[in-house]
Amino acid sequence: MGVFSPKGGVGKTTIATNVAVGLGKVAPMNVVIVDLDLQFGDVASNLYLHPEHTMTDAVSNSASQDAMVLKAFLTLHAANIYTLCAPLDPVAGDLITAEQVTHLLQQLSTQFKYVVVDTGPGLTEHTLAALEQCTDAIWVSGMDVSSVRSLRTGLDVLRKLELIPETRHVVLNFADTKTGLSVQDIEASLGAPIDVAIPRSKALSYATNRGVPVLQEPIRDPAVRGLTELVERFDPQWRDKRRKLHRRAVVQ
Ligand SMILES: Nc1ncnc2c1ncn2[C@@H]1O[C@H](COP(=O)(O)OP(=O)(O)OP(=O)(O)O)[C@@H](O)[C@H]1O
Ligand SMILES: [Mg+2]
Repeated sequence: MGVFSPKGGVGKTTIATNVAVGLGKVAPMNVVIVDLDLQFGDVASNLYLHPEHTMTDAVSNSASQDAMVLKAFLTLHAANIYTLCAPLDPVAGDLITAEQVTHLLQQLSTQFKYVVVDTGPGLTEHTLAALEQCTDAIWVSGMDVSSVRSLRTGLDVLRKLELIPETRHVVLNFADTKTGLSVQDIEASLGAPIDVAIPRSKALSYATNRGVPVLQEPIRDPAVRGLTELVERFDPQWRDKRRKLHRRAVVQ
């Protein structure tokens, strides 16, 4: 699955790291988070990691031909998840091609139950390559006109290119009643219902600065509820339950 938004700063990395940490509880050692924000990725800093190896090593010839070598380049995090961090030097990120990203994601998907991809802002060639490999896309918008409009435009373009992954999860971040926009207005502009709302929360910005995602600790916070709801959408038990409910609704 991947976390996407045309606009920067709407909470992609916060969401991706928390989803990975949350899934680490469902499937310990069977989750990998990949930082595809190849120039200024901050998954490492959000998880307080100082990786020895990065994406540059993961797309090297030796790793691309050998699953064991690739695994040796991942960094293990305390939440029982593996991480593949962005290169430390933005120039190194430019040298990684879309084809390499495609191959890497295919390799990881055979080794891990969950591959969580964090992306940078914009629809770059790396992001398009990730979109093509993802079964699920988490689309993130802030609660402001500009990020809602950009997401709408982005979704329209991707639909034309037939690049929309099968399952969609729309997340409204920084959800706040005082912005002058209502959830209904946003849903109408997006042309899609909001699946999960995450309120603005000091706990989240504090967690980013500390490098400890909120789902890693037993914190009571309204944002934790939203993030937990999002993680549950990827739990197979939840999916089965939903499918059954849906079937019942169809039969009646
Ligand atoms: N719901 C929230 N409430 C308060 N702060 C938040 C919330 N969501 C994210 N933040 C904070 O906003 C900042 C930007 O979030 P984040 O880095 O996740 O965005 P991003 O979409 O990954 O940005 P970029 O496009 O630059 O990669 C971070 O400091 C984060 O802690
Ligand atoms: Mg980010």
